[in-house]
Amino acid sequence: MTDRELVDLAFTMLERSYVPYSHFPVGAALLCADGTVFTGCNVENAAYGSTICAERTALVKAVSEGHQDDLVRLAVVGNSTDYCWPCGSCRQMLYEFAPDLTVLVARGDREFVRLSLHELLPHGFGPRSLD
Ligand code: THU
Repeated sequence: MTDRELVDLAFTMLERSYVPYSHFPVGAALLCADGTVFTGCNVENAAYGSTICAERTALVKAVSEGHQDDLVRLAVVGNSTDYCWPCGSCRQMLYEFAPDLTVLVARGDREFVRLSLHELLPHGFGPRSLD
């Protein structure tokens, strides 16, 4: 799957977002080494802190379906003017399972940038940090 295809798939998830509070839909698509893709959207909650981001929705879907060690590329997208940068909690959650992940970050005009999770979360704290 090309970067463009993964980004476009993430954009299809914007309509699934549940965003009655922020009105800021976010979509995600997470590619595994075998070609499986897990999609996600943000799901908000009246108790605001219980909201789950789009990237974490996709990640938890993947892990719960047995894909822990083969996550290779993530697209995260929004309708915003600026690129829809993953929040700190999502960067940390992704680092747990895929520190070498490639991340595609798009903005509302569908332009995107490609960077590594190491760039987004340098010197991250992960499972090996506990050794
Ligand atoms: N959001 C995400 O889905 N991913 C991020 O990495 C940043 C923020 C969502 C959470 C909330 O529903 C909305 O964007 C506004 O913060």
